[in-house]
Amino acid sequence: MFSANTYKERRQRLRTQVSSGLILLLGNDESPMNYRDNPYPFRQDSSFLYFFGLSYPGLVGVIDVEEGRDIILGRELTVEDIVWMGKQPSLEEKCARAGVKGTLPLTDIKNLLAAARLRKRPIHFLPPYRCEHILKLSDWLEMTPEQVEKSASVELITAVVDQRNKKTPEEIEEIEKAVDISADMHLTAMRMVRPGITEAEIAAAVHQVALAAGGQLSFPIIATVNGQILHNHSHDNILQSGQMFLLDAGAETAMGYAGDLSSTIPVDKHFTSRQKEIYQICLEAHEAAIAALQPGVPFKNIHLLACRVIAQGLKDMGFMKGDVEEAVAAGAHALFFPCGTGHMMGLDVHDMENLGEKYVGYGGKEKSTQFGLKSLRLARELEPGFVITIEPGIYFIPELIDMWKAEAKFTQFINYDKVETYKDFGGLRNEEDFLITEDGYRLLGKPIPKTIEEVEAMKA
Ligand code: GLY
Ligand code: MN
Repeated sequence: MFSANTYKERRQRLRTQVSSGLILLLGNDESPMNYRDNPYPFRQDSSFLYFFGLSYPGLVGVIDVEEGRDIILGRELTVEDIVWMGKQPSLEEKCARAGVKGTLPLTDIKNLLAAARLRKRPIHFLPPYRCEHILKLSDWLEMTPEQVEKSASVELITAVVDQRNKKTPEEIEEIEKAVDISADMHLTAMRMVRPGITEAEIAAAVHQVALAAGGQLSFPIIATVNGQILHNHSHDNILQSGQMFLLDAGAETAMGYAGDLSSTIPVDKHFTSRQKEIYQICLEAHEAAIAALQPGVPFKNIHLLACRVIAQGLKDMGFMKGDVEEAVAAGAHALFFPCGTGHMMGLDVHDMENLGEKYVGYGGKEKSTQFGLKSLRLARELEPGFVITIEPGIYFIPELIDMWKAEAKFTQFINYDKVETYKDFGGLRNEEDFLITEDGYRLLGKPIPKTIEEVEAMKA
């Protein structure tokens, strides 16, 4: 973890951003796989991690705005716990690492909150995303689960987002470590891709790189010959000549910071000419988006720029027609690119998505409901310190093509006869991670092959 001062300063800043009352940050519990004693790898709640730094289950943090004190509530381990889990620091030792002086048994939480409520002090909490947190808050605050879900504090969400969106130099260093490990995951895969190997074998090797570096995955690995399925987590295919293999995988460091990279690799030594043409359009959209990164530029404009490059390229190839600006404004390009150009990244790979994209990526403004644009996670003006991904893609999704064609949707912009001939193409994207700086941007981590020549050279 960072030094105790880092966490103290973060909490102090939060105190200045929330007007009054208690800020309640729930740490996560173990999550059973199939019974209590067999849990998934423990993952601390990212906001708890950000403000308290402690990656142990069963902790609750309270930040008292007016009284200026912090408390961590938890449970001391018994000898029986230690028999199974080994020795751990005492609650007091853990708190000292986070710069917190006050500790209480977790059993005191209800009384502590009841006393605050009696004094009509507001109790701020973030939107709970785990059922056990909803049930705990329901019990502690005497609300129904439905009320809990509606009562997250917008004031707290806004304050947390404001801090966590702007990464500090020590966070950037940690993120860069995660991206470097992620790059090694991709280089490992690029060296393995060949006809006859399975998606599962490559996914296993990629996973190993993340684990061997001492952390975990930052999200489930996408390792697939069906790149057109955006979040495809099955690994049950054997790679065949003529196909492309898409890897979207990232590591999370032991401290919880994420990397997130995508690459697309031909299964054979070379891309086919069909694949090259589409790959090149996608790469041009990718590079155009990167070149436009700058503080003050709304990311929505960068996304639309990437969409226009894709639409122009697809028009040049005969898939689209008509005015490119009009086609993109109407959302016709979303047949091929139904998602967003990027997202925030930090302690979560989609950073703070649990707090609401409206606050994290849209500065409190509502998202568009247009197909395609509604999946854009980031639209707000970029600021120095933001860490974001760039990941435009081109996808031929047979079911979506069939549906739009049957509906005669956007026939003024889409040449369905030509699209029909690419229904078996699949999908592709590249993805890289960037820091927004005072005067532009900086690529995070070591670069991985992304031009056609660079990717093919990996297979020489
Ligand atoms: N790399 C996974 C995602 O961005 O959704
Ligand atoms: Mn991503």
